[in-house]
Amino acid sequence: MNIKELLSHMSTREKILQLEQLTSGAFAGNNLVEDTGPAAELKLQPGDLRMIGTSLPTRNAEKALAIQEEYMKNNPHKIPLLFMDDIIHGYRTVYPLNIGLSCSFSPETVEECSAMAAKEAYYDGSYVTFAPMSDLARDARWGRIAETSGEDTYLSSVLTAAAVKGFQGDALGEEKIAACVKHFAAYGAAEAGLDYNTVDMSERTLREYYMPMYRAAVEAGVELVMTSFNTVDGIPSVGNRRLVEGILRDEWGFRGVVITDWAAQKELVTHGVAADDKEAAMMSMNASCDIEMVSTTYAQYLEELIAEGKVSMETLDNAVLRVLALKEKLGLLKKPNLGVNKEKGERLFCCEAHRDLARRAAEESAVLLKNNGVLPFDAAKVKTVAVIGPHADDGDIIGTWRCAGRAEDTVTVKMGFEKLLGKENVFYALGCSNAIEETDESGFDEAVALARTCDAVVLCVGENFRDTGEGTSKTDLTLTRAQMHLVEAVVAANANTAVLLFNGRPMCIGDLEEVAPAVLDMWFPGTEGGNAAANLVFGKVVPSGKVTASFPRNVGQCPIYYNHYNTGRPRVDDTKRSPYRAAYIDSPNSPLHSFGYGLSYTEFEYSDARVDKNVMKRDEVVTVSVNVKNVGKYKAKETVQLYIRDLVGSTVRPVKELKGFEKIELDVGETKQVSFTVDEDMLAFYGRDLVRKAENGKFHVFVGTDSNCEKCGEFELID
Ligand code: NOJ
Repeated sequence: MNIKELLSHMSTREKILQLEQLTSGAFAGNNLVEDTGPAAELKLQPGDLRMIGTSLPTRNAEKALAIQEEYMKNNPHKIPLLFMDDIIHGYRTVYPLNIGLSCSFSPETVEECSAMAAKEAYYDGSYVTFAPMSDLARDARWGRIAETSGEDTYLSSVLTAAAVKGFQGDALGEEKIAACVKHFAAYGAAEAGLDYNTVDMSERTLREYYMPMYRAAVEAGVELVMTSFNTVDGIPSVGNRRLVEGILRDEWGFRGVVITDWAAQKELVTHGVAADDKEAAMMSMNASCDIEMVSTTYAQYLEELIAEGKVSMETLDNAVLRVLALKEKLGLLKKPNLGVNKEKGERLFCCEAHRDLARRAAEESAVLLKNNGVLPFDAAKVKTVAVIGPHADDGDIIGTWRCAGRAEDTVTVKMGFEKLLGKENVFYALGCSNAIEETDESGFDEAVALARTCDAVVLCVGENFRDTGEGTSKTDLTLTRAQMHLVEAVVAANANTAVLLFNGRPMCIGDLEEVAPAVLDMWFPGTEGGNAAANLVFGKVVPSGKVTASFPRNVGQCPIYYNHYNTGRPRVDDTKRSPYRAAYIDSPNSPLHSFGYGLSYTEFEYSDARVDKNVMKRDEVVTVSVNVKNVGKYKAKETVQLYIRDLVGSTVRPVKELKGFEKIELDVGETKQVSFTVDEDMLAFYGRDLVRKAENGKFHVFVGTDSNCEKCGEFELID
């Protein structure tokens, strides 16, 4: 039976329930036709549970099988239940948190990691992941910057497409799961970095900077889109018809399923745009949002709304068809248990190949922020190492949104160094905790004593993983006072100290960098974090990560991003007061570390950067090339970055925009030429008429190691 026929056999109630998603707990151990327990609490009717279309995960193959078996016995048309999960940066094998992973500037790594996660989830019975999270983030106060790829639209779009490809493959099938890009739209622009706060921006900014990532996902074939909690132009996304039906479906041609975020329909009432749950259900359904997550306003009110003519049967049918089409595409309609296989899953979880990939990803994600020369440690001289700090023997360095990941699977930093140097050569002290309110410094004596007796120190500080991710906005981005004191005490005891930073957001670490001889940002590196740390610190792997969200000097600079407009009164000197200029009087405007920044143990020399022509006709391309030579002592990777500035536009243009990057590996002494092709589409933007196109005129070209790179040429676009 095809899905249209199937639909024709379904009752209205059955259709509506196909659009509801509950937690798996609602089904577990429940007689699916009873009216007590979870179903009653959710105001469902007797017998409803057996027709609910989708569920949050069990993360347990046996439970998934048991629920499905009971469900299939009771579901009137034998349409299987579909489990969905937040597989954000790994399933059981956890790879670096997304903000960290983005610093790899490696779509290949993102794709490989996503494919690994899909494979593990598949055997545990989850066939949809609520990822990639593709919100643009320019504000480190916002805790969910952790789940993003940072502040640049182009890079985030490339990494989004790579993640979709990794999860879904070229076509859904064995070991592949459907991806759900989120949170549509502009969730990352919450005012004041406050999670769930109002988003208010011009149509231009929305389209130019915040939308392209979601669109990249749609173009990559993403199966689902999740709406955001925030308002866009005064209307929460879940009830925003112009956004969902208008832009996503009509303009972009998205044919897949739209799922709303956790109980978001009810928030329409809290926001104050719906008088009650019934009106909320109507708004959401008419906006063309298909699946309601966890709340049950559809189940409670859609029948009435249809009878009253406020929601059409056609709208309902279309939504149900999309959900059925997804189930069909996944193969679920033919095989309700699809890939569930406990043994296969367990064989994959944290297997050698997966650990190997997680380690490589963590190595590529780390960013060397400062180095006075202590790093890498010289194995001939450094025989004993003190690993100190709250993250030194901490399984929680897998970070937030760990899915099925377990702290006990983690190779901690201590374990990583023990593996490399032998247990007898590694000494551990906690020092203090990473709690924001920590005042207990009683562990310092032990830490300092260890630091004095060891050849070198690896000092692991940063954020508690619970202080990053959803609902963790901050007004202070510095290292906690206790940890800062610990750094001072330990560095005073042993100057041969490298600080490893564990964090889910860019932090204000100017003070830390003044004291610490070296700072290597590990982010939350995942299951293999400790092995990656040891390899990086001893130079077995050379750091190559580059910052993807600006590190502010102070929280007052937020939001801060490299591709800002020039203003009519740009600052003239970042080190001096600039009266009546767009300039802070108590701080430079520039961040501590800009987009694209990251050191290496080697040095790269850029030369002969050139643009092949001064005039570009619309059907032509311009080639920008540069030679990069490894003039240091280590074979290493470098991300070569191309930026462009449109000098005059019908609307203001950013001072610089990333238009291309290439990651290369160079042997000591080796030179490679890197070339970028610039075409008309890369110069396009939303002009005064809000139509995206390239405008004639002059463009400056910049190529180099980070977003501060120098201009290397220019060209003019003509008809
Ligand atoms: C709320 C979060 O905003 C969203 O990202 C997540 O996918 C859902 N909860 C489901 O857990």
